[in-house]
Amino acid sequence: MMSSARVLFVDHTGQIGGAELILLDVVAGRQNSSAFLFEDGPLSAALAGRGLKLIISQHGRGLSRFRRDSSALAALPLLGRLAAIVVEIAKAARGHDLVYANSQKAFVLAALASVVARRPLIWHLHDIISPAHFGAAQRRMQVLLANRCALKVIVPSDAAAAAFIAAGGRRSLVEVVPNGLALQREQTLRCDLRQALGLPEGPLVGVFSRLAPWKGQHVLLEALAALPGVGCIVVGDALFGEQDYAAQLQQMVAELGLAGRVYFLGHRSDVPKLMQAVDAMVHPSIDPEPFGRTLVEAMLSGVPVIATDAGAAPDILERGRAGTLIPPANPRALAAAIAAVLARPDQLATQLEYAAQRARAEYSLARMCEAIGLLIAKAQAGAAA
Ligand code: UDP
Ligand code: GLC
Repeated sequence: MMSSARVLFVDHTGQIGGAELILLDVVAGRQNSSAFLFEDGPLSAALAGRGLKLIISQHGRGLSRFRRDSSALAALPLLGRLAAIVVEIAKAARGHDLVYANSQKAFVLAALASVVARRPLIWHLHDIISPAHFGAAQRRMQVLLANRCALKVIVPSDAAAAAFIAAGGRRSLVEVVPNGLALQREQTLRCDLRQALGLPEGPLVGVFSRLAPWKGQHVLLEALAALPGVGCIVVGDALFGEQDYAAQLQQMVAELGLAGRVYFLGHRSDVPKLMQAVDAMVHPSIDPEPFGRTLVEAMLSGVPVIATDAGAAPDILERGRAGTLIPPANPRALAAAIAAVLARPDQLATQLEYAAQRARAEYSLARMCEAIGLLIAKAQAGAAA
């Protein structure tokens, strides 16, 4: 029997966003694997805690802040550093059976390194490849490299698969593996939770995503202006250099007269529990969400979800059966949806029960890990043949 694959997992960031939370689950039990990160950060310690050997690039610091939509020209001065990282990854890859890139930036460099080191490459693509997030040159390069170098491209939703194919990616490369989450619901009393957090007793909604313009927290603030008496918690921080947006949100609170109604709680490690403090979880992304772990977390936590009808959200919420869908970037529609949910909490019981059951059945961690484990094993077997 073949021993478990020695995988070199590559990520560009040392921060822990949703894609990295997935990575932490994928690497579990793979002690003979390693992780190559472009820069150090909380992710290093978390991966080391899973028993992986850590390799931190000597040349990657600050690269994660390089904008995803930057032109090829703007990247020119960085070429030397990028080439040096390719060499580092290729060197590391030689001691492994395959390379697994967990982000778009990691993929581009890992693709070149996989050619140099002659190792199979899997790309776990957590993004929707579209003009909203990537410049034309970047999209062309990603798809070209994927078509030439990747053995498989794993995506978390049909929406992410469709975008990859629409950008020119080969359909036969794509494997849709929905994200999976293991969540033991810790039943907490809403009133106790609010008291502990110093939150008021009245109607309260919440948004639980890192702060970034496309995550759309500003749309929720605009909606709140039309909902007097409704409070809101904003959970999450700017993880990837979006500090200006974070400041803009604070300013909006003052300008829209929302002071005293909006509570910025910063980054928290107890999101699913915190969700139980609110009457509705709002997911206001203005661009299509590739997946949206927080949608499933809310479903598992028994909290009504109101989400933008784009990307993976309509699938996860089963076209509205497991939550409320609203058009993107539309504060009026969002305000109306919030008002409707707040007005009929008792009538939502069936929907909430269905949503929790659906989340457990469709988005289980075991299912995701099994599917990805199989793809890794196949890639290893192919390489050994
Ligand atoms: N999250 C967190 N603390 C916060 C805000 C978010 O732990 O303060 C978690 C959240 O619970 C979710 C993940 O970060 O598991 C975000 O994943 P998602 O897929 O929703 O979005 P992403 O940020 O990856 O685009
Ligand atoms: C990305 C996406 C998010 C997805 C996560 C894990 O960060 O923005 O929608 O849930 O990756 O796949």
